[in-house]
Amino acid sequence: MSQTYFKQWVEEKKAKGSYALPPRIDGRNDAIIMVNDQPIINLSSNNYLGFANHPALKAKAIEAVQSHGVGAGAVRTIAGYNDLLETLETTIAQFKGEEAAIVFQSGFACNAGVIQAIALEGDVIFSDELNHASIIDGVRLSRSKKFVYKHNDFNHLESLLKEHRHLYRHALIISDGVFSMDGDVVNLPAMVSLAKTYDALTYIDDAHGSGVLGPYGKGTVAHYNLSGQVDFTIGTLSKALGVVGGYVACSQVMKDYLVVNARPLLFSTALPAAVLAPLNEAFHQLKSSQSLVDQLWENARYFQALCHEHQLTLLPTQTPITPILIKDEAKAVSISKACLKDGVYISAIQFPTVPLGTARLRVMISAAHTKEQLKKAAEIIAHHVHTIQ
Ligand SMILES: Cc1ncc(COP(=O)(O)O)c(C=O)c1O
Repeated sequence: MSQTYFKQWVEEKKAKGSYALPPRIDGRNDAIIMVNDQPIINLSSNNYLGFANHPALKAKAIEAVQSHGVGAGAVRTIAGYNDLLETLETTIAQFKGEEAAIVFQSGFACNAGVIQAIALEGDVIFSDELNHASIIDGVRLSRSKKFVYKHNDFNHLESLLKEHRHLYRHALIISDGVFSMDGDVVNLPAMVSLAKTYDALTYIDDAHGSGVLGPYGKGTVAHYNLSGQVDFTIGTLSKALGVVGGYVACSQVMKDYLVVNARPLLFSTALPAAVLAPLNEAFHQLKSSQSLVDQLWENARYFQALCHEHQLTLLPTQTPITPILIKDEAKAVSISKACLKDGVYISAIQFPTVPLGTARLRVMISAAHTKEQLKKAAEIIAHHVHTIQ
C-alpha cells in the first residue's frame, strides 16, 4: 500500500470527469439551501417531510440541551439510558406495531450491528442484490454463509432456498423495503410467504419507507398490512424523521438479546439528548397528522409527471425517489454541475453506489418543496439533460 496509488486513483477519476464532491452548504438543510450566497433548490436531501429544519423539533433540541446536557457520556451498556431514549423506543415499537424497538446511532450502525449479531456460524443469509451498503457490510461481518438473489426476484430466491436452506441451521432473508437508488418497493407478501415455507426469519430495511409509505408513513410493512409478520424492521431516524439515528423494531425476546450483543450498542457512545428529544417530537407530529406524508406524495407525483412531459428517462420508481437515468458517469457529473450553476442541486449517483453504466441523477422530493420550485427545477434539469453530450 502506498499513498501514490491513491493519488493516482484520484487523478485518474478527475481526468475522466467523474470525480465529484458535494457543495458546501451555508446554514440549514431545507428545500432551499445557500451555496456561495446563492439560494439553490435542494433535490439531494432525504429530508422527506421537512423535519430537518422544523421549528417544533428545533425547540425540543434546545430544551433538551438545557435539561440533559450535550453528551450521553458513554456506551449505553455502561452509562445507562435516559428517559428520552426510553420514550423514543416505546414510541417506535408502537408506531411500527411491534413489541419492542432498539435505537442505534445510525441506520448504518443498526444494519451492521444487528445482522452480525443474529446471523451466526452455521446459518445462512439470502440478500437482494440491490440491498444497501450497510446491509452488505453487516452480512460481511457475520459468520454466516451468504447467497445474493436477483433484485426483487422471488423465483430466484425460491430456487436458492430449495437448493441450500436445508444445509444450514437458521436462515435470514434480507431486503430493503424501498430501494434507495431506484425507488421501487420489495414484494413483501412474496418474501413473507417464502420465509414461512422455508422456515426463515425476515429482515426489512425500511430507511426510505418509514415516513413515506403506509398510513401515517408507518412504512413498507404497514403498507402491505403485514405488521407482526416481519421479524426485524430496520429504520433510520435521519431521513423522513429529520435528525439522525437508526432503529430495529422486533420482538421483546430479540430486543433482550440484541441490547447485550449488538456491537454498536456495546462499543459506541449512545445518541445525545439534542437528537432524542426532537425525534420524539417528530414521531408525535407524524402520528397526529397524515398531511405531510400526503404533501410529499402530491409533490412526488407532480414532479414525476413533469419529468415525463420533459421526456426524461425515469427508472421505474414507486415512491418519491425519482432517478433520472443518464448512464454515462462523466455526463451525469457534468449535468449535476451545470444544474448547480443554474440554482438546482441534484447529485450524480455513480459506481459503486449503482452498477457501472447506470449513472443517474437522483431527485429526492420533500413535502417542504413548493410546486414553483419543482417546476423550475424540472425545466433546468431537462435543459441540461437534453443539451449536454
Ligand atoms: C436503505 C438504507 N439503509 C440504511 C441507510 C443508513 O442510514 P443512516 O443514514 O441513518 O446511517 C441508508 C442511508 O443512506 C439507506 O438508504
